[in-house]
Amino acid sequence: MTTVAEIFETMEYGPAPEADAPVRQWLQAHDGKFGQYVNGRWTDVDDARLFDVQEPANGKRLARVSQGNEADVDAAVQAARAALPKWKALGGHARARYLYALARAVQKHSRLLAVLETMDNGKSIRETRDIDIPLVARHFYHHAGWAQLLESEFAGYEGAGVVGQIIPWNFPLLMLAWKVAPALAAGCTVVLKPAEFTPMTALAFAELAHEVGLPNGVLNIVTGDGETGKLLVAHEGVDKLAFTGSTEVGRIIRKATAGSGKKLSLELGGKSPFIVFDDADLDSVVEGVVDAIWFNQGQVCCAGSRLLVQEGVADRLYEKLRARMERLRLGNPLDKAVDIGAIVAPVQLERIRGLVEQGREEGAQMWQPSWACPAEGCFYPPTLFTDVSPSATIAQVEIFGPVLVAMTFRTPGEAVSLANNTPYGLAASVWSENINLALDVAPKLKCGVVWVNSTNLFDAAAGFGGYRESGFGREGGREGMWEYLKPAGTRDPGPGTRESAAPSPESRVPSPDGLPPIDRTPKLYVGGKQARPDSGYSRRVLGADGRVLGAVGEGNRKDLRNAVEAAHKAAGWAKTSGHAKAQILYYTAENLAARADEFARRIDDLTGRGDGRAEIDAAVSRLFTYAAWADKYDGLVHDVPIRGVALAMNEPIGVVGVACPDEAPLLGFVSLVAPLVATGNTVIAIPSEKYPLAATDFYGVLDTSDVPGGVINIVTGERDSLAKTLAEHDDVDAIWYFGPREGAKAVELASASNMKRTWTEWTPRAWRDARVAEGREFLRQATQVKNVWIPYGE
Ligand code: NAI
Repeated sequence: MTTVAEIFETMEYGPAPEADAPVRQWLQAHDGKFGQYVNGRWTDVDDARLFDVQEPANGKRLARVSQGNEADVDAAVQAARAALPKWKALGGHARARYLYALARAVQKHSRLLAVLETMDNGKSIRETRDIDIPLVARHFYHHAGWAQLLESEFAGYEGAGVVGQIIPWNFPLLMLAWKVAPALAAGCTVVLKPAEFTPMTALAFAELAHEVGLPNGVLNIVTGDGETGKLLVAHEGVDKLAFTGSTEVGRIIRKATAGSGKKLSLELGGKSPFIVFDDADLDSVVEGVVDAIWFNQGQVCCAGSRLLVQEGVADRLYEKLRARMERLRLGNPLDKAVDIGAIVAPVQLERIRGLVEQGREEGAQMWQPSWACPAEGCFYPPTLFTDVSPSATIAQVEIFGPVLVAMTFRTPGEAVSLANNTPYGLAASVWSENINLALDVAPKLKCGVVWVNSTNLFDAAAGFGGYRESGFGREGGREGMWEYLKPAGTRDPGPGTRESAAPSPESRVPSPDGLPPIDRTPKLYVGGKQARPDSGYSRRVLGADGRVLGAVGEGNRKDLRNAVEAAHKAAGWAKTSGHAKAQILYYTAENLAARADEFARRIDDLTGRGDGRAEIDAAVSRLFTYAAWADKYDGLVHDVPIRGVALAMNEPIGVVGVACPDEAPLLGFVSLVAPLVATGNTVIAIPSEKYPLAATDFYGVLDTSDVPGGVINIVTGERDSLAKTLAEHDDVDAIWYFGPREGAKAVELASASNMKRTWTEWTPRAWRDARVAEGREFLRQATQVKNVWIPYGE
């Protein structure tokens, strides 16, 4: 028997297990098996379609749930659709009351939910009790507030409709809250599919929703694996999809929804850097690392899985880390004194083992604590790799386990390039006692969240989401609400509403005076210079009367490559002050106005509509609008209930390809290019295929307006094939496409290569109407929000 003296000697904890009886009783009440929650009812259980849900800590069966099939998904979507009009019409206050009731219900049942989550997922009770479940309640409270304020704060917008949501297993109930709370607040109805490993808390939540009297059909839960997910993605009754999970599945969903018109937000994987400068407080850093990579067994999309440490302090930090790792407690996740619980499933354990093995084979040094993992259950020890090459598999691939890979750097510049050296861009931590240094580095990191001297902080008031292959869209905060809203009164875009621009037919009509017109062949415009098309071909441009008005270059892949390169070289534009950007846009407007008559004539010749002058006047006004916005599209400061604030910074997306519409040859071009440029992006514009001359004339205006070379590049030619090529290009960060639906589909499909952001529209806009053709919607599409959490106040 251990004596008290011995306990004082070792300071060992005794086991302090949380009781699991209430959860077992709850499961018993359901007979240990569950149907789907559709239209406010449990469907009958079909024993043939049940699959086991296991407890990762011991491999035992926890419950059996149903594999959702086509009929289930269809019934759920139909129920959500039927419930939509009434839910929308209820108004913000009524919806706020429901969200508030859900928050209260989560709090009232927090212990049951925490224990159930721990049993289902394997994560420690300390985390589910103190982090997951309180944050779930916080999300519902916060979004009760957005429901209440919706009509005033999002005037002119309404819910996006029926929402399909697919979530992963690493934060089962928290991911549900991140998805369901904003959707319900916005007036959407929901079909949610939890992950097959961890469906239990979503089912328990359905019961709470029922208890608080959420109207039938507003929230539907359909369980099942990826096959069920696929059915939900493909369902025509879904207006918006929100997904969190692997980049691989995100890519499948991007492709599957291409051309469907469904709104999409994707929160995908990461390989987030944890950057330690030599003046950081190393003891705080050690605790930070524990939270970065051993929190939730490292199964966190934004886990600080790459430790980048300044050379001079690396060995000291590793030593401190090893000492801390030796004292981490791993075991039964229901034990209140346990730090590290179980890995979610054997398949994940195998994946971690395989990647660790690969790391050793590639020559990195592995270290693990001396204690052993329990023989039973799905456990993996905290692991530290040092001497890792930045290109090693373990430095590039998301391991999604308690495995930290460490690399060193010498200068802040080197830290930034190492940090950005992955295709991902979800989060980063920066540790330094020098606020100048930390805040100098933060804007240079390509990711959606930066934590200064902290890590893995989450709150409902702050947006969360990635750059690059970590996906697009934000969850949380004001920025997250936009994902579930659409401009009020917009129709669902119907098929074929925009005509395909037919290639110009050959024409032999001579000019009116019978003489050949003086040749005027605009070239491409790349890097601030006119460039001959690589193909050596030109395409004729006909006027409305059939006359040949000129010819433009037939741009090809090589021209686009040059344009992308030029746009990258002009990246300094992002750092140009808002004031300076405004000056240049005003100057462009001034120079366009000075040549208004000439441009108006050109447009009239092209379109034969006689409204050229009105189009030019609108374009001048539009340039003024974005000059005005250039120093006013501010970010936000989020009030988060932690010692700090989150600065939500609007950042440019980077290099953006723009395929312009035919309806308004110059105004369409200006309406799309100006907001991008005003917010610091650089652009490769493909002008209207039918009327390209208005845009090519425009480069003369750009030349005289001090627009730096490479900020706006113009490549003429066959719009759809050029747009597709840009969408395939890995150095292009986003594509805007305004053309026929088939072209939009091709762009969305091709964009999956590097998960670039897309904005496609096949319903023509009224470009002259400032209410629909300029403003915040365009600015939002032109930017991505980076939330920088900084210490502030006590
Ligand atoms: P996953 O991406 O396959 O699963 C996430 C969700 O998507 C689940 O609900 C699943 O049923 C569903 N799903 C799977 N295939 C689908 C399809 N074709 N269409 C629609 N829905 C589909 O993730 P998985 O397989 O569980 O984990 C594999 C790896 O993914 C992990 O090792 C980790 O690297 C990464 N991952 C990243 C997460 C994140 O939060 N970023 C979360 C979970 C996994």
